[in-house]
Amino acid sequence: MNNIAISIKNLVKNYDGTEAVNNISFDIKQGEFFGFLGPNGAGKTSTINAITGIANFNSGKIEVFGSDVVKDYRKARSYIGLSPQEFNFDPFLNVQQILVYQCGYYGIPKAICTKRAKELMKLFGIYEKRNASIRALSGGLKRRLTIARALIHKPKILILDEPTAGVDVELRHYLWDFLKKLNKEGTTIFLTTHYIEEAEKLCDRVCILHKGKILEIDDKKKLMKRFAKSQIAIELKDKLKTIPKNIKKYNYKIDGNNLIFFEDKTKINEILNSIKKNEIEIVDINIESSSLEDIFINMVKNG
Ligand SMILES: Nc1ncnc2c1ncn2[C@@H]1O[C@H](COP(=O)(O)OP(=O)(O)OP(=O)(O)O)[C@@H](O)[C@H]1O
Ligand SMILES: [Mg+2]
Repeated sequence: MNNIAISIKNLVKNYDGTEAVNNISFDIKQGEFFGFLGPNGAGKTSTINAITGIANFNSGKIEVFGSDVVKDYRKARSYIGLSPQEFNFDPFLNVQQILVYQCGYYGIPKAICTKRAKELMKLFGIYEKRNASIRALSGGLKRRLTIARALIHKPKILILDEPTAGVDVELRHYLWDFLKKLNKEGTTIFLTTHYIEEAEKLCDRVCILHKGKILEIDDKKKLMKRFAKSQIAIELKDKLKTIPKNIKKYNYKIDGNNLIFFEDKTKINEILNSIKKNEIEIVDINIESSSLEDIFINMVKNG
């Protein structure tokens, strides 16, 4: 077995008249925490559906730990736990049955399935609802069940399509800690989210998808370094009447008593010296670096 968890080559998925996924290629290494980001309709779920065999695709090749998702579907699928974006429960089953039946698909003996189901229900705070029908669950509880179900066969890869959509703050934080731990213990995680802050917190590498194409794919830290811009806001005691010559060379704007520089923060000393040379009194300094969200918004806007 190689150390590539998921390999996608030249994936194309069209719906009538829509190019949902337009020739994308990338690999996800075993043990990675991978963020798959993009605006609505970018093609994220279509890609996940192709990886997990939920939908067929027009061309390309996908392998999961070396197994082809079409030719060797069962094996490829057995490596993956999927928490889909849309709820897809059998409405006639109760919470515990959903977990136990899912576990059974993988040929795991029923006693073990029941034991695991109970553990997972406790872990995700749905044990009290074990006999409840799906219809009796709130949206957030359904989301918990979806994630528990994805984990029931202890998959090597966990694919989460919007796992924190509609969940409360407490669960979101719990999930973050849980996923971080799971990843540390070796599970490869493929995460799709609209909370870019979540990807910034959790992921090692991110891919930004837009209109079915990859805009960027890189190590998160490298990506942030490449695209980050800092904003250095310097509050002055008095409003500037004229702009000193040695300041004009920077990218700046004036906002009341504030001089705001759009320059890398490594330039802070140089900028401060330029101001001091003019005997301008500084009251406060505030540096803000762009977040992954700022970078994402900019990229998609221009993409
Ligand atoms: N079953 C389908 N039939 C026709 N078009 C579809 C179907 N599923 C998706 N599409 C279209 O394919 C494109 C990609 O959709 P997809 O669901 O993959 O996007 P997404 O990135 O997951 O978006 P979101 O963030 O809204 O979940 C969109 O234009 C969508 O309308
Ligand atoms: Mg989607």
